[in-house]
Amino acid sequence: MTWQKVCAADDIANNTLQRFEVDGVAIVVANYGDGFQAIAPYCPHMEEPLHESGILETSGVLTCSKHLWQWDIRTGEMVGMAEKSLLCYEIKVEAGDVLINLEKELVYEYDEEDELDDDDFFN
Ligand code: FES
Repeated sequence: MTWQKVCAADDIANNTLQRFEVDGVAIVVANYGDGFQAIAPYCPHMEEPLHESGILETSGVLTCSKHLWQWDIRTGEMVGMAEKSLLCYEIKVEAGDVLINLEKELVYEYDEEDELDDDDFFN
């Protein structure tokens, strides 16, 4: 386990998302009012930066405003139209600091079927 300090708990307002870099790894931390969640920084749909496209409701539902995929921020589980869960880091708050277990960077695998390059196109 490699617990790393991300920020002070007070640094993130309720029901907001904030992007951080820890040891060169980008993460997004959500303060959902009665707790925190740390997630991979991009939407699992099409790589939108969730600290910009994400809307966190008081109910704990996170919505990516690009195509309205949604998740329960407490668990990372899909809600509604989402087709992939969020990748979440272990997180805890100790002595007013937000810490995550950063053993390895969490990264989504994206479908590349829509990204034909010229070689594929002419074959
Ligand atoms: S990029 Fe987030 S829902 Fe499509």
